[in-house]
Amino acid sequence: MDALWCVIPAAGKGVRAGGDRPKQYQPIAGRPMLDRTLERLAAHPRIAGFVVVIAADDGHFSSVDTVGGKPLIVATGGGERSDSVLAGLLALPPSVGEGDFVLVHDAARPCVRATDISRLIELASAGEGGLLAAPLRDTLKRADGQDRSVATEPRDGRWRAFTPQMFRRGALARALRLAADAGIVVSDEAMAMERAGVSPLLVEGSEDNIKVTTPADFALAEFLSGRTR
Ligand code: CTP
Ligand code: MG
Repeated sequence: MDALWCVIPAAGKGVRAGGDRPKQYQPIAGRPMLDRTLERLAAHPRIAGFVVVIAADDGHFSSVDTVGGKPLIVATGGGERSDSVLAGLLALPPSVGEGDFVLVHDAARPCVRATDISRLIELASAGEGGLLAAPLRDTLKRADGQDRSVATEPRDGRWRAFTPQMFRRGALARALRLAADAGIVVSDEAMAMERAGVSPLLVEGSEDNIKVTTPADFALAEFLSGRTR
C-alpha cells in the first residue's frame, strides 16, 4: 500500500484543559502540542501528507504548507469533532481516492508511537479499517448520579479507543454524514463506522498515547514525549 494522508482534528476549544489558548497551542516541553503531534507523524515513512482542521476563529495556527517536507492543507472545522473530521476528509486532495485509507489523529495526542502507527496500518488495512485502542485494565464501576458505586461492570471485552483511526476515505465520509443527518454525535470515527455496519479492528496500542485533556496531562505528556519514540 502507498503512503496515507492524515486528517488532524485541531478545531476544539480545549475547555477542560483551560489556559490562555486552546490546548493544541499550549506548550509541551517548550513547543506547541500541535507542532509536536505533526512532527511525530511527519517522521513516519507511511504518512504522505496532512489536512489540519482548525476552528473558524483560530488565531494561533502558524500557516505552513509543509511539515517535514510533506504537504499540509488547512481546513475549517465545525462544532463537534465529527464535523471537523468530515470537513478534513472533504479537503483531502483529489489524489486520495474514495477507496483509499486515511488516518485520523487527534492534535491532542502528541505521544503516539511510530511502531503503533505501523502496526495499525499493517493490520487494519487487511479489512475495512480499525483503530488503536487498549483493553480496560481498571475495575469498572456504575455510579448512581451521586458518585456512589451501585454496581461493578464486567471489564472483559471493553476497550478504550485511541487515535489514529484508519478507514477508507469515502466510507468514512458517508458514515459520518449518515450519523450527522440522524442527529447523532459520534465520539470517534469507529462509532460512525459501527453504525454503518462495519466492525473496526481493535489494534492494541501503547497506553502512553494519552489524549491531553486536563491541566495535569501536560506534565505527563512532557514526560512521555521525551521517551516514547
Ligand atoms: N476537535 C475538533 N473539533 C471540535 C472538537 C474537537 O477538531 N469541534 C479536536 C480537538 O482539537 C482535539 C480532538 O478533536 O484535537 C479531541 O477532542 P478533545 O480532546 O475533546 O478536545 P477539545 O474538544 O478541544 O477539548 P474539550 O472537550 O475539553 O473542550
Ligand atoms: Mg471535546
